[in-house]
Amino acid sequence: MKIDFHSHILPGIDDGARTLEESVELVTEMAGWGFDRITCTPHITRKFRNTTEVIREKFDILCNTLADKGLKIDLRMSAEYRLNPETWPEILEKGLLMLIEDKYILMEFPINDPSEMGYLKPMEEFGKVISMGLTPILPHPERYFHLSHDMLLRYVDAGVKIQSNYGSLAGIYGEAVRERARMYIDEGIVSFLATDMHNMLYINAISAWLQEGNRLWEM
Ligand SMILES: [Fe+2]
Repeated sequence: MKIDFHSHILPGIDDGARTLEESVELVTEMAGWGFDRITCTPHITRKFRNTTEVIREKFDILCNTLADKGLKIDLRMSAEYRLNPETWPEILEKGLLMLIEDKYILMEFPINDPSEMGYLKPMEEFGKVISMGLTPILPHPERYFHLSHDMLLRYVDAGVKIQSNYGSLAGIYGEAVRERARMYIDEGIVSFLATDMHNMLYINAISAWLQEGNRLWEM
């Protein structure tokens, strides 16, 4: 089973696909790369206040559209939870987490400004999730220049799994991010790679990277 568990392909609810047509285009390309299962993980952040209901509505629309078009792909539903005081504590408190593969949770940091996390301490929040018997996944640490290498290793030691982006390796976010992703992989701390698919720029960059002889599902 070839799984991509990090994607922003639901239309119009975050900074990923804007229209249903774009969603279908992205899924078609990803199926062409060989993915059998894609988990939709729209952002839940201060800016994108997505609820389970909103995500389910868009998810059902995309599933039905793909079925109508005869595109066979196993679509799943979850979210990428940002550590924002405005969204994360309530989700945890009310038990609203949508799991990936029955046990994982994508927990992202603000990309540039860690002060957006307010009073939340990542290690504590990871600990809460772990104590629930779940496994936190920190997506694309190579993009967090505010995160020290030491702290990243402490998260890994605590039981957090690390996911890097194919797009980082393909150079979407620049050379420094590419180098950091490569370094984390070579150090053996990356457990998963995912597309973090947002739009056709990601498709084009990852396609070009594949044409250079790189392979999905291989580190
Ligand atoms: Fe993402």
